[in-house]
Amino acid sequence: MKNLTGLCNLPAGDIHTLLDLAAVFKKRLVTPDPSFSVTLQNKRIALVFFENSTRTRFSFDIAARHLGGSTLSFSASGSSVSKGESLGDTIRNLEAMQVDAFVLRHASSGAADFIAGITAKTVINAGDGSHEHPTQALLDIFTLREHFGAVKGLNIVILGDVLHSRVARSNIFGLKTLGANVAVCGPATLLFSDTSHLGVSIFTDLDKAIEWADAALVLRLQLERATGGYLPSLEEYSTHFGLNDERLERVRKHLLVLHPGPINREIEISNNVADRIQPPGYSKSMLLEQVTNGVAVRMAVLQTLLAG
Ligand code: CP
Repeated sequence: MKNLTGLCNLPAGDIHTLLDLAAVFKKRLVTPDPSFSVTLQNKRIALVFFENSTRTRFSFDIAARHLGGSTLSFSASGSSVSKGESLGDTIRNLEAMQVDAFVLRHASSGAADFIAGITAKTVINAGDGSHEHPTQALLDIFTLREHFGAVKGLNIVILGDVLHSRVARSNIFGLKTLGANVAVCGPATLLFSDTSHLGVSIFTDLDKAIEWADAALVLRLQLERATGGYLPSLEEYSTHFGLNDERLERVRKHLLVLHPGPINREIEISNNVADRIQPPGYSKSMLLEQVTNGVAVRMAVLQTLLAG
């Protein structure tokens, strides 16, 4: 593997290898091992973020440093992009400074594959438009695997604004590859019009989706994109598709709850559901565990792509 631009065509064996390595790294993060030898000395990793980020940017930064690499932080507003420099020229100039890898977040779907086509260096997609966010899906799948022991045969519902979600797309590819049953649930206006090629089921009734599911991956309602003509109102969205205690108690179903963050509290997820990490209640939140796992998973990705 040289690049990671998506999970669409990543074989199950490669996903398992990355997750197994992440499990090793997670143990070392929890219990530091003085004999741990770093593998990315002399490697320069450019964090090229054209969109805002907290979790992905910082966890890649921490992951690279844990492995002995150095990072360069790029943001469009402080760069020559604001003078009209193109994405391609930006990457070529960074490459000329002997950068070894690009971790790219961009608003355009396909940006990571475009960059992979013009640079000889490693490219990791940190989220491109509504296309893919592979390391987010890997950390979600890692979290599910760690909790349930295996992903194969699990029923996973992806809830909310599926249409605009790169996280949904990468999770569908990764989860299906590993043999999970995947469904999407949300208002018809925020689901894909054709899911036949993706092999996922559709629920438009959240109660039925919860009855079916072992775990729910709740998506952020992308307020910057999803209001307008997609929804009558946020209140109605929350009433019909918000995950909260009243609904879980009505269905009387225990659910593992994941969310990639950032969250819109009391819109797609209630405070109680987002914050509950132990009983009592019908849900267990993995939100912060996912963030912790993100460092280990990104260490595994960097190590695999840059150190072999
Ligand atoms: N989940 C995720 O991509 O979060 P950030 O936008 O904060 O990186």
